[in-house]
Amino acid sequence: MNKGHSIMEYETVELDDENGELVIIDQTKLPFKTEILRLKTQQEIWNAIYLLQVRGAPAIGVAAAFGIYLAAKEIGSEDYRAFYKEFQKAKDYLDSARPTAVNLSWALKRMEAVCNRNKDKPVKEIKKALLKEAEEIRDRDVSVCRQMGEYGLSLVKPGDGLLTHCNAGKLAAVRYGTATAPMYLGAERGYGFRIFVDETRPLLQGARLTAFELHESGLEVILICDNMSASVMRSGWVNAVFVGCDRVAANGDTANKIGTSMAALAAKRYGVPFYVCAPTSTIDMEMKTGDDIIIEERPGEEITEMWFKERMAPEGINTYNPSFDVTDNDLITGIVTEYGIAYPPYTESLKKILAESLYG
Ligand code: MRU
Repeated sequence: MNKGHSIMEYETVELDDENGELVIIDQTKLPFKTEILRLKTQQEIWNAIYLLQVRGAPAIGVAAAFGIYLAAKEIGSEDYRAFYKEFQKAKDYLDSARPTAVNLSWALKRMEAVCNRNKDKPVKEIKKALLKEAEEIRDRDVSVCRQMGEYGLSLVKPGDGLLTHCNAGKLAAVRYGTATAPMYLGAERGYGFRIFVDETRPLLQGARLTAFELHESGLEVILICDNMSASVMRSGWVNAVFVGCDRVAANGDTANKIGTSMAALAAKRYGVPFYVCAPTSTIDMEMKTGDDIIIEERPGEEITEMWFKERMAPEGINTYNPSFDVTDNDLITGIVTEYGIAYPPYTESLKKILAESLYG
C-alpha cells in the first residue's frame, strides 16, 4: 500500500499476502478521513462489503476474489474434497453480502472454476492458482477501465458538460473507474470538461466520493442535488451523461444506484445522450430483462438519518430504501464496454460483444 498523501495514491483494494489481510480504504470515512482497514476473517470482509466500506461493482468483485483466496489459504485439509467443501461454504457466505452487483458472484464463480480446473493437483497448487486468478481479476480491471475510457472519450468533445450519478470512479474500481474513465482520460488530454455530480441520496456516494476524487485529480466539478439534474439538462449545460452499472440484463436494462433512471428519463426528455459504462463482467445474459434483477433493500435508517447519524425524520416513520433502480433499455443511448460500444437493439449487440470477449 503506497503511503502517499493523496487518496489517489492508494489502491482501493489490495492484498497483503504475507500477513493474510485484505487492505481497503474505508469509504464510509471519506472524504474527511483516509482510514485503512486490514481485514483478516471472512466475517470482516463480508461486513466491509455489506457496510459499503468497500463498494462499487468492480471493487466488490476484486475484494471477493482476494477474500475467497484468503479463506482458501486458511483451509488446512490436503484432501481436495474436504478443501472444496470448505471453499464452497466460504464462497456462499461472501456471495450473500450484497445481491445486485453481479461482479461479486462473477468473481467468486471464476475463483471456483480455478478449483474445478485444478482438482487433480495438490491443494497447495490450487491455492497458488487462486492467488494468480485474483490478481488477474484486479489487473484486468485497470486495463478494462482504460479501454472503456477510450471508447467513452470518442463520444464527447473538449469543453463538454458531463453528468454522472453515484460513484463509478476509481474508488468503485481499481483505477480510472468506469463512468469516470472518459473524464480522467479527457483530463490527461486537456479536454476541459465541466462535470456535474449528483450528490446521490441517501448515502451520498456522489458528494462524498465522486466529487472528492475528481476534484482531488484537478477536474472541474459542480456538485448538485439529485433533484437538480433535470434542471441542468434543461439549461443545456450537459452534453452527455455517463453512469456505471451493477448488472446489465441481456436486453440492455441496467441496474445502477437508485436515481439513475430518473437522470435517464430527464436526459431523454432534453435530448442528452445517456451512456452506461459496463465492463463485460457486469453483463449478465442470464437475466433476460431488468425485472429479473434482484434489487437490494437497505435499512430505513439510511433515509431517516443524515450520513453522520443525525436524525432528520420522525421516529417510527415507515421507509422504503431500494439501493438500486433499473433504467429501461430504451432510455440508454449506448453501452460502453471494453470491447466497443453496444447500441440498440441490445439483445443483438450485447451478444455480439460478449462473443468477442474473454468471458463470453
Ligand atoms: O451501493 P454502491 O455504492 O455499491 O453503488 C455503486 C453503484 O451503483 C455504481 O454506480 C456501480 O456499482 C458501478 S461502479 C463502477
